[in-house]
Amino acid sequence: MKQFSYVTVAALFIYLNVHLAVAAASGPAAQPPQAAVASAHPAATAAGREILEAGGNAFDAAIAVAAALAVVEPYSSGIGGGGFFLLHRAADGSNTMVDAREKAPAAATHDMYLDERGEFIRDRSLNGPLAAGIPGTPAGLVYLADHYGRLALSESLAPAIKLATNGFVVKARYHRMAGFRQKAMAAYPATAAIFLGDDGRADLDEVITQPDLANTLRVLGKQGAAGFYAGEIGERLVAGVRDQGGIWTQQDLDDYAVVEREPIVINYRGIRIITAPPPSSGGVVMAEAFNILSQFDLAPMTAKTRRHVVIESMRRAYRDRAEYLGDPDHVDIPLTRLVSPAYAKTLAADLSTERATPSTDLRAIGPEKGEDTTHFSVLDSHGNRVAATLSVNYPFGAVFVPAGTGVLLNNEMDDFSARPMTPNAYGLVGVAANAIAPGKRPLSSMTPTFLETKDQIGILGTPGGSRIISMVMIGILDFASGNKPESWVSAKRYHHQYLPDEVQFERDGLTSDEQLDLKRRGHQLKENSRNYGNMHAILWDVAKQEVNAASDPRGEGAADVFDIARASQR
Ligand code: GLY
Repeated sequence: MKQFSYVTVAALFIYLNVHLAVAAASGPAAQPPQAAVASAHPAATAAGREILEAGGNAFDAAIAVAAALAVVEPYSSGIGGGGFFLLHRAADGSNTMVDAREKAPAAATHDMYLDERGEFIRDRSLNGPLAAGIPGTPAGLVYLADHYGRLALSESLAPAIKLATNGFVVKARYHRMAGFRQKAMAAYPATAAIFLGDDGRADLDEVITQPDLANTLRVLGKQGAAGFYAGEIGERLVAGVRDQGGIWTQQDLDDYAVVEREPIVINYRGIRIITAPPPSSGGVVMAEAFNILSQFDLAPMTAKTRRHVVIESMRRAYRDRAEYLGDPDHVDIPLTRLVSPAYAKTLAADLSTERATPSTDLRAIGPEKGEDTTHFSVLDSHGNRVAATLSVNYPFGAVFVPAGTGVLLNNEMDDFSARPMTPNAYGLVGVAANAIAPGKRPLSSMTPTFLETKDQIGILGTPGGSRIISMVMIGILDFASGNKPESWVSAKRYHHQYLPDEVQFERDGLTSDEQLDLKRRGHQLKENSRNYGNMHAILWDVAKQEVNAASDPRGEGAADVFDIARASQR
């Protein structure tokens, strides 16, 4: 695995200076020599390739990959969840984000996860149907097919339907995730029966079939959104949820709609970073952090000092996440200010290049983790791109499947700030901007991202809860240093999210010498017991006419680069 070494970082700044003058505003018009798909599961990558080879474009392939992941990686994402699809359309050079994030049902209330004494009941926001937001992924898939795809939705869903019908084989990752949520699933035997197999343990090499999910996908493919949000499936969803204490109504399903949002664009030393806007916090946090980094002449610094400065930029940017960010349809976010270089200058003013700033010394907020979630990247032979990060939130979401649907519901409601400054499952805090309200989308960290210079196009993202943003940042810094996707997805990971006031890092992510250096600067350190993240990335080097793709070595994913007849795609 790659160290974030002095040589790497030094190369970064030489590279940046060289490319500063040639960064393009809209990316190249050339076409890639090959297509590529990188996702968290070989069967999902194969589904994307199958659809591209059948004449679909990157958007059709994204439908196929997302639906296949819903089948084989139910702990990460699914049609009971939501997510963000970042799209680049080669024909007109446009970038957009399809926001298919879940929404709070209309009966949701500010204090719905607090007891009579005002204490937060975590179980309510994590397990069972009360934890579930109204799913957005089905509407997202329909929207992609209707507005961007070339094939019929039913055709793009076919590989996933086959996987759900014939089953898939349990591997180590599934087995581990199932073990993690086995206890919670015990309260919902119907869920356990689907996902834990005959003996309730999801044994290695066991085959998991999902006939109800296959049927729901089939109906979705035939009828579009009405096949999921209305009719028999819609009725079963609402009945199943309400039967177990949930609060969904048919009206909530009828009201669900995706929103196209303008991506955040960050210009960092010659790289154009196109990324997720609110209700993701990813773009704003990265804009603040990269704008802070731009205030420093990093080139003469040692690698250790640079790492410290990157951590301090994360601390400050995540502080603002907690205070200002939420669903832009419900709260006024001072977006222009937050992403402006002038604001970053004020944030950088008290950043010591030698000493950690205690989070409590930053302006107070008031008064008012992970491997779940999934990311995949697609590039077709015309240069259309998709970076999609999708989620059911915690592994296996709310561990609840409404009877007769096969749809595993999300527990994305836990991404709201259920009580001011009370950490959620990822230790993230927030205030009014991300409070629960009917019809509101919970703030997310999902950060699907494109990178553009004159010569290169990158596509990347990862799951990982609050750490998604810092992982994508580290991936971008590695791209900037001239490395290829294999290196971005392998780079050692560290993270600061303002509170708790500690530098988290993955197992073996920092050498003891690097740890000592950070401690000397006043940082608290916390080593994770495991590696984290599951990044899947593609690089199209336009100058060299070369496509590379890589899947995170920490996961079980697959990256595939292949020749494809351009004439068959649009
Ligand atoms: N559920 C993870 C996220 O949206 O950040």
